[in-house]
Parts: sequence; C-alpha cells; structure tokens
Amino acid sequence: MIKVAIVGAGFIGEVHANSYRQIDNADIIAIVDNVEKKGKKFAKKFGAAFYANLDDLIKSENVDSIDICTPTFLHTEMAIKAANAGKNIFCEKPLALSLENAGRIIEAVKKNKVKAMVGHVIRFWPEYAKAKEIVDSGQLGEPLHAFCERLAVTPDWHEGNWGFNEKYSGGASIDLHIHDLDYLIWLFGKPSLVKAQGVYNEKLGGLVHIATNIEFANGKSGLAEGGWGFSGSFPFTMVLRILCEKGSIEWIFRAGKNIEERSQKANLTVYKSDGSIDEPKVEQEDGYLLECKYFIDCLENNKDIEIATLEDGRNALELALAATKSAKEGKTIKI
Ligand SMILES: NC(=O)c1ccc[n+]([C@@H]2O[C@H](COP(=O)([O-])OP(=O)(O)OC[C@H]3O[C@@H](n4cnc5c(N)ncnc54)[C@H](O)[C@@H]3O)[C@@H](O)[C@H]2O)c1
Repeated sequence: MIKVAIVGAGFIGEVHANSYRQIDNADIIAIVDNVEKKGKKFAKKFGAAFYANLDDLIKSENVDSIDICTPTFLHTEMAIKAANAGKNIFCEKPLALSLENAGRIIEAVKKNKVKAMVGHVIRFWPEYAKAKEIVDSGQLGEPLHAFCERLAVTPDWHEGNWGFNEKYSGGASIDLHIHDLDYLIWLFGKPSLVKAQGVYNEKLGGLVHIATNIEFANGKSGLAEGGWGFSGSFPFTMVLRILCEKGSIEWIFRAGKNIEERSQKANLTVYKSDGSIDEPKVEQEDGYLLECKYFIDCLENNKDIEIATLEDGRNALELALAATKSAKEGKTIKI
C-alpha cells in the first residue's frame, strides 16, 4: 500500500484525490493546505489527516509519496523539501517556472534517490496516447505535421487568483499551452526553432493566448494554439490533428466549462488515403486516473518512472519559455 499526501486542496488536488480513491494500492493519508477551512473540509471528505503546512506533514506523517498540487511558483521549494525528506514525488505541471529551478528539482531527486513524475497528463490521455501509437506503428507512413489546440475560459477558481500573476503562474502560455508543447515533443522529439505570436493581458497573468510554430530537429513541424482568454459559455476545447504521408488522425473534443466535464465522448478518427475512415478503439479510463495508477504502480513495484519524467517536465518548460519569449519579443528562438 502506498501512503499518499496531497499538498494543495484545490481544483487539481481534488482530481488527484478522486483518482487515488479508485486505486486499490493507494491510500490518501494526509492533506496539506494553508487555507485551513478548505483543507479540513477536503481532508474530511477523503478520510485523511489535515496539516496547514508541508513541514508539519513531513515531521508528523510517514508517507511514501507527496503529490504537489499547489500553485506553480511553489513547486520548486516543495519538491526539493519532499526529496530531501526522502519522499517520492508527483508534481503537477509546469514542473517549475525557470529552467534553473527545474534543474534544482532534478538534482535534489537524484541526490536523494527518490522517484518523481510530472503531471503531463496528456501522455496518459487515451485519445492522445492512441494517436501516438498509430503514428509510431508506421501504418500511416511518416508523420509530417501536427496541430494541437487547447482553449479555455478564464480560470476563476484559483485560490487568491494566483494564475493572473505572471510571477506565480507564468501565464496561459506556460500553464495551459505546455500540455500541447509536451505532446508535440513526445511525438516528434527535440525542437530546434520556435516562433510564436500571442495576446498579452497583464490583468490575466501575461500571455493569455498564444500560437506557437515549432520546427523539430528531425524536420517535422508542429503548431500549437492555446489560451484561457475565452469568456461566457465558451466550452473547454481540445483538438489534435496529425498529418501523415498516408492519411491523417483527428480528435476534436469540446467539454463544458472546464475539464471536469471530460466524460463527454468524441471519437478519434483516422482518415486513410484509400478513402476509408476508421474509429480505433480507445481506452475508456480517465487520463488523470491512468497517470496516478502508473505512478503508484512504479512506487509499489520499484520500477523506474519512464513516462512524464522530470526531464520531460523540464523539456516542456524549455519550449514553453521559448514560445513565451518569442511571442513577447517577436523573434524566432533557437532551442
Ligand atoms: N494537469 C492538469 O490538467 C492541471 C489542471 C489544473 C491545474 N494544474 C496545475 O496544478 C497546480 C494547482 O492548480 P489548481 O488549479 O489546482 O489551483 P487551485 O488554486 O485550485 O489550488 C491550489 C491549492 O493550493 C493551496 N496552497 C497555496 N499555497 C499553499 C501552501 N503554501 N501550502 C499548502 N497549500 C497551499 C491553495 O489554498 C489551493 O487550495 C498548478 O501548478 C496548475 O498549473 C494542472
């Protein structure tokens, strides 16, 4: 049984708690949040102990793993503390807000020989994972270009509106867009050139919308567009389209206000060059549950974490920072 503590009783902390609850060999034993009322309510709901800060948790509870679901600017300090206490770590994305801090986390994890994973959930999202499997199988020939889109309404649930402060969240170009940048790296490998354009809105945390063109070292290209500048009833939207030599793969998903309404169905579709259309069978489990299951399995069976590693988190951050710089300065950035 893996004993888990969740730090951050907010939106994603609850998504993780609901996932661990469905995993037989995981037990949520503690919740940490600096907003006492909220943290206690969350702890009661999940039958866990409550702590007002990470230090008290580390002193008082013998947990196997610390799941960091706090605002992004706190990830570095908390991950290093957890690693130095010998705890395994699941850290939400973005891993950090600078490459220097991402490197500090990687060092601390190596030094303390703990296991760590980053919440790049798209690598576990059934439709994205299936699309990559199809590309890798070679059945559609060489992949040539991929397009990813992630559009959301302005987040109004963040505790203290931390997302609207660029120093705390990096803005939508780092916070939200990073999912698709990570996917494109997973698909095509190392990026070499980035050119982005965006909409800057200081009140909404920096770049609120961005379109990023990427050239990869292997000659493939990608375009990702995303942002949280939408308002009113605009539905959470994810789009994936991969052009290959002998066909294309497409997935267009529209949910309700936020990703919590993700149970709606949209079929992954493969358009083949012979005119046939295929809707491959896709796993029905939730991506957040699948990533937590994978993490717990690696801990319980002492396996290396090979999907959504800290290095993957660092590489996605490097691309998101380059895209942000490119959009702000109007320049093409070499990676
Ligand atoms: N993987 C995904 O799909 C996904 C989705 C949403 C958010 N996230 C990431 O998860 C993180 C949290 O986002 P959120 O939307 O859940 O934010 P949130 O504001 O809803 O939750 C953050 C929680 O952390 C608590 N907190 C703040 N400072 C703390 C401290 N010092 N000690 C303990 N608790 C503290 C807050 O009180 C709050 O309850 C961010 O890094 C975000 O980018 C990932």
